[in-house]
Amino acid sequence: MNIVAFETSCDETSVAVLRDGRLAANIISSQDFHTLYGGVVPELSSRAHIQRITPLLKAALEKAEISLNEIDIVAATAGPGLIGALMIGFTFAKGLALSLNKPFVPVNHVEGHIFSGFLMPDQPEFPFLCLVVSGGHTMFVLVESFVKMRLLGSTIDDAAGEAFDKVAKLLDLGYPGGPKIQQYSNRGNQEAIKFPIADVKGRYDVSYSGLKTAVLRFVQKAQSANSLTEELKCDIAAGFQATAVKTLTRKLEKAIKEFKPASLSLAGGVAANKKLRDSITSLGLQYHIPVRIPSFEYCGDNGAMIAFRAYSLVSSGEKFTLEYEAFPSFFSSYIAD
Ligand code: KG4
Ligand code: ZN
Repeated sequence: MNIVAFETSCDETSVAVLRDGRLAANIISSQDFHTLYGGVVPELSSRAHIQRITPLLKAALEKAEISLNEIDIVAATAGPGLIGALMIGFTFAKGLALSLNKPFVPVNHVEGHIFSGFLMPDQPEFPFLCLVVSGGHTMFVLVESFVKMRLLGSTIDDAAGEAFDKVAKLLDLGYPGGPKIQQYSNRGNQEAIKFPIADVKGRYDVSYSGLKTAVLRFVQKAQSANSLTEELKCDIAAGFQATAVKTLTRKLEKAIKEFKPASLSLAGGVAANKKLRDSITSLGLQYHIPVRIPSFEYCGDNGAMIAFRAYSLVSSGEKFTLEYEAFPSFFSSYIAD
């Protein structure tokens, strides 16, 4: 069974081919030009998806060594994401499914991230506790099966990735901010500046607005004292990163104690962060729980995770029609509170 999947929810255009549950191609084209604007410009993102999607489909089919006629299922990210960007991949995929007379599977982007650990040789064991941390989402999810998940908590304001991006902007490090903060942190002292960790009373909810404001105040003070040197920026980045990671691992530890999951997983763009990966690996060692973290190429947005999510749904007996529409905000029929 060959599944061809499209991901166009934000600034990566990606097409993947999954053959009998194994990845045969995962072509990703990142729209690096958004760095010029300090963030993703939705209109430009949609235009780039339009230009890139057909060549990417060709490249993916070539890599997987299949022809259009050998496609059995077409899948695409339905949401959440930038609606104009989503519509490109979603409508393209629907058209392809219609012309080939094959089933179409709409995929929730966040669910795609949650199951990205299954693209690795050591797959997560159910029930697993997954921390989804991306530019748009921060969620603690208890994953009981491919079709049953519990949302334990999420952010009450900024997503983790958004906080990294905003702090990078304050420090004038460029976009996307996460990798820049990591680079600067490597050269800084995380003990030099202590930022506060917000203690959100909701059981597994987190907040980043207080931390962001604390960094803003510190940066403004340093700017007015003319002392915002590269060295100080490194210390600020390291202090922020340590606090941002602690914010997440504290709640994760609490959830491990309460739910005793069979494994731990991490997903989404911020899962590329080394400090976060190391902290979760330590938690796993401490509580004797296997940690299943996707490799870097499956942390950021990619078609492979969309293809695998479609595969897991179809294998679970789920059925879809061409009536499904793309959606910009979070919605999932498989994740309950
Ligand atoms: O999952 P993703 O590629 O797109 C969304 O669905 O949002 O996540 C992008 C986010 C951005 O906020 C980016 O700054 C962050 O992931 N990110 C990182 C790192 N690499 C990417 N954050 C922290 N450390 C990193 N190394
Ligand atoms: Zn994502």
